[in-house]
Amino acid sequence: MYEWITITAYPWIKALHVIAVISWMAGMLYLPRLFVYHCEAELGSKQSETFKIMEGRLLKVIINPAMIVTWLAGIYLVWSGHWYTSGWFHAKLTLVLVLSGVHGFFSRWVKDFAADQNTRTKKFYRIINEIPTVLMIFIVLLVIVKPF
Ligand code: HEM
Repeated sequence: MYEWITITAYPWIKALHVIAVISWMAGMLYLPRLFVYHCEAELGSKQSETFKIMEGRLLKVIINPAMIVTWLAGIYLVWSGHWYTSGWFHAKLTLVLVLSGVHGFFSRWVKDFAADQNTRTKKFYRIINEIPTVLMIFIVLLVIVKPF
């Protein structure tokens, strides 16, 4: 019975994992774009205040909860599928930890903008914008192709 429940649950949890991954990535790809536009807005302008609200809500309502669900569902899949000994999983976990670190920086930068304390340039955010994309490509290749 217990085994039947875990086998049945697996694809459902995997679907939940992918849904959460899409939401997390949507936010991680869009937030640095907002930072680029925010750099162009004058301090104290209406536009700048609107960007603060957009960034804060995107982080709190989408990015943070989506990351938590991705992690919880992912940990369930690793445990249930006994993937912890697989090479691809170790590589994926490393990249996911880097992505989570990038998430940490993003949330600090949202706070910096909210306090009108941003010191970084538009160019900086434009370059940073590519990091989640590159990580996502390799994470997906690892988990789908499982090359090792
Ligand atoms: C947060 C930590 C994460 C853990 C612990 C984790 C772990 C896992 C595990 C064990 C599977 C099941 C693999 C299988 O059944 O073949 C899986 C599936 C998947 N993961 Fe993650 N994952 C995490 C984050 C991510 C991220 C950030 C992405 C994409 C950017 C991602 C993309 C996927 C995809 C697309 C699948 C479906 C693969 C398939 O159907 O074969 N995961 N994940």
